Amino acid sequence: MRIVLGVGGGIAAYKVASLLRLFTEAGHHVTVIPTEAATRFVGTATWEALSGNPVSNSVFDDVHQVNHVRLGHEADLVVIAPATADLLAKAATGQAGDLLTNTLLMAHGPVLFAPAMHTEMWQHPATRANVETLRGRGAAVLEPASGRLTGSDSGPGRLPEPDAIFDAAMALVHGQTDFQLPLAGKTVTISAGGTREPLDPVRFLGNRSSGKQGVALAVAARNAGATVRLLSAHMEVPPPPGVDVVNVETALQLREAALAAAVDSDVVIMSAAVADFRPADISDTKIKKRDDTADPVITLVRNPDILQELVERRNQGIAGPAAGGQLIVGFAAETGDQHGDVLAYAEAKLQRKGCDLLVVNHVGSDKVFGKDTNSVVILARSGSEPQEASGTKADVSAAIISRIGFELNQVSPRA
Ligand code: C5P
Repeated sequence: MRIVLGVGGGIAAYKVASLLRLFTEAGHHVTVIPTEAATRFVGTATWEALSGNPVSNSVFDDVHQVNHVRLGHEADLVVIAPATADLLAKAATGQAGDLLTNTLLMAHGPVLFAPAMHTEMWQHPATRANVETLRGRGAAVLEPASGRLTGSDSGPGRLPEPDAIFDAAMALVHGQTDFQLPLAGKTVTISAGGTREPLDPVRFLGNRSSGKQGVALAVAARNAGATVRLLSAHMEVPPPPGVDVVNVETALQLREAALAAAVDSDVVIMSAAVADFRPADISDTKIKKRDDTADPVITLVRNPDILQELVERRNQGIAGPAAGGQLIVGFAAETGDQHGDVLAYAEAKLQRKGCDLLVVNHVGSDKVFGKDTNSVVILARSGSEPQEASGTKADVSAAIISRIGFELNQVSPRA
């Protein structure tokens, strides 16, 4: 496929080098056209080296090839990233002062804008009108992601992650014209990893959760356009970039963080392995090993069920977005026995906990923990057919996030 990648003059231009890589590695022929301002952020040499093609933004270079007409005409896809307020305005008003804007006027195929700018610029009525004009003409304009901006402030205006732009571009080429990132504008809280319950200053009761599934979910939700809060218990993998991280250790700390984050979250996903019990007493000093004392006995007390509490608070209207129901997703690691199979137990758990979706892992001795692959069944409280998903944890996460997107677009209120 022939792709024109137009790069606008914003700091996010550096991320577009990764997007270019994704296109070329997928075998596409990419011509990069940076604006004059874009080359102040990332130089022409970078675009030429990564694309393997000459780079210019002048209508007066290689005039004999009539680039200002040919490039747009031949392109199967034009992607503009970052689409700055200036570029959106120029495109909306049909200006043709340089090679990129000429190319946009000549484009016959799909055109995708991935905006990035400061929140106030994005929300300015002028930009809103330009975006509406472009969408009205059939161009796809992504919602920018929310989060940290160039300075210390944050809000909508971040360039969507390169793989999210890549996915959107491929969807557009395959005829999906009315798409938006499925979780654009949504806040998603995800707990991940395993809690640790201290016995004394050096020992704890823990579990084998690696956090890989929770992190893969955070990446998938972020790529789907959501603002992601990752409540990280103990994890063997680092949190991904582009998400807000709250570190916790124990179930009680996770409870506090989850209840606080849930207040204004559209979606809460409890993928953490939460300890059901904790030691009743935590010794201030290391429990000593002495020959003259009896073997220590550890008394355990139950931890609160955070998932259940989240559901109760949502049902009471204490938590969740003002505009509608909050979607709550639980995880279950189940085994079957002589009284019932995995799904029967999972179904009972779904009803007991009252969450909207329950992602069920079939746990064998070494099937899930720490592995890079997973196989799950997604059960819905609405009673719709169980849905299976398997593959890498990224594949499984993509299926879960796309199911969440689908459920959020159903109008019926939850609770
Ligand atoms: O009851 P069970 O532990 O099998 O349920 C698993 C689900 O409940 C997971 O989503 C887990 O994150 C959540 N959970 C919780 N609080 C607990 C125990 C589990 O939120 N104390």
